[in-house]
Amino acid sequence: MQTPAAYNDRVVRQFTIMTVVWGIVGMLVGVIIAAQLLWPALNFDIPWLTYSRLRPLHTNAVIFAFGGSALFATSYYVVQRTCGVRLMGDRLAAFTFWGWQVVIVGAIFTLPFGYTQSKEYAELIWPLDVLITIVWVAYAVSFFGTILRRRTKHIYVANWFYGAFIVAVAMLHIVNSLAIPTSLTQSYPVYAGAVDAMVQWWYGHNAVGFFLTAGFLGMMYYFVPKQAGRPIYSYRLSVVHFWALISIYMWAGPHHLHWTALPEWTQSVGMVFSLILLAPSWGGMINGIMTLSGAWHKLRDDPIIRFLVVSLSFYGMSTFEGPMMAIRTVNALSHYTDWTIGHVHSGALGWVAFITIGSVYMLVPRLFNREQMYSVPLINVHFWVSTIGVVLYIASMWIAGVMQGLMWRAVNDDGTLTYSFIESLSATYPYYAVRLLGGLLFFAGMLIMAYNVWRTIRPVEASSPATAPAASA
Ligand code: HEM
Ligand code: HEM
Repeated sequence: MQTPAAYNDRVVRQFTIMTVVWGIVGMLVGVIIAAQLLWPALNFDIPWLTYSRLRPLHTNAVIFAFGGSALFATSYYVVQRTCGVRLMGDRLAAFTFWGWQVVIVGAIFTLPFGYTQSKEYAELIWPLDVLITIVWVAYAVSFFGTILRRRTKHIYVANWFYGAFIVAVAMLHIVNSLAIPTSLTQSYPVYAGAVDAMVQWWYGHNAVGFFLTAGFLGMMYYFVPKQAGRPIYSYRLSVVHFWALISIYMWAGPHHLHWTALPEWTQSVGMVFSLILLAPSWGGMINGIMTLSGAWHKLRDDPIIRFLVVSLSFYGMSTFEGPMMAIRTVNALSHYTDWTIGHVHSGALGWVAFITIGSVYMLVPRLFNREQMYSVPLINVHFWVSTIGVVLYIASMWIAGVMQGLMWRAVNDDGTLTYSFIESLSATYPYYAVRLLGGLLFFAGMLIMAYNVWRTIRPVEASSPATAPAASA
């Protein structure tokens, strides 16, 4: 193996810092739209502050800017360490960093102004889609080129997950974005009707499966054993986990289109594959959690391990809930309600954000040559603030969602609806307030992390990082 100096950590550092920055921006927009659902007047009648424009900005910022930067950072870090070689092509890697930032800034300058393709999670206009494709190809060359030049004989399982994420996202993005441009900012998709919907949700679901899951599982398979100081519980299970997950995920997309014009048999295929998906997902979760066996005490002493292990618990929870929601009769109740929003954020905050936060706390001292984070007690505070935040968020949305579903389907003896839509909306308001509180707490945790990261990385002369508060932890 080479010495750390031989690795390209510059690009990892850049993406790690931007993970924190975009996490704050994306979650701030999340807090704003959560507040707007409570107080609609908060758009101040300014078009670019309206809910409809800020919502896609939130989803793009948290998924692609925050989540994307975290995936770039960790995959570049992990592939170098596990292959024992420097990342292929310094300039190529730098191009992926700057290219990705341009895409994000492009999103900030188009979505609030109403330039959109109107496809969920694929809203960006076609010139940005082209740029994404170019950056992604550069990413693939850099990542797989490094694997090809590896000094180790076998390819560590984390790289399999990262690799599947890179290949699948390229395929999903290109197929779903195929469109005929009519101007610089407008285009029409090449698909129509039910086919368009199917392609979109094949993309949408696999964006969850590969962007928000496979990539983050790569993170899990490296950072959990590393921080626990133990080998992965079962390498064999991880290989089964990998092949089962990637072969099943692709077929589950139609569960987003239950009770629509999509042929019923297609919906049934989506439902059955979603139910089967529970098995590999839980296999992976158990593999991660059991890695700690024999070192359970670390859960008490080490707040970073706590972030990582709690993320796995949320992964287990959302991958149990998802298959249940994919059952057509359950979906008839949950669809269009805030139950879906609760499910999304148990995955997005509980799983994706938690594993990212844990990994960032592990990476920062290593990347900036510090012994540890500036303040371990602050990591602890962050852990509790965000755990309370996520629980308030998802519990309020679950209750609101089930309540909405039941109110909408309640009928009187004479067949008329028991409740008007507006009655269900006003019944939801208290839960929107609780969700806002949860979001604010989660956001506050991100600010605590930013402060801790800043104090850790600022020049050594100005602070004595690993000494003062952390030493007493
Ligand atoms: C402070 C943290 C956050 C807050 C307050 C927040 C708030 C919100 C709100 C209010 C919505 C709109 C819900 C609706 O339309 O009824 C939303 C949607 C969404 N958020 Fe967040 N969010 C946060 C963090 C995140 C993170 C970290 C992710 C992903 C990694 C994420 C992913 C999403 C997605 C995918 C949707 C769209 C859901 C759907 O269409 O079903 N959010 N968020
Ligand atoms: C076994 C795993 C999973 C299955 C089978 C599953 C299934 C589902 C189902 C049935 C829906 C509701 C579709 C609808 O009524 O429109 C849904 C929505 C969603 N799920 Fe999952 N889920 C899983 C895991 C996850 C995870 C881990 C995440 C996040 C990291 C996630 C993110 C989302 C998002 C963002 C949506 C909202 C999509 C939209 O309508 O905009 N899911 N999922």
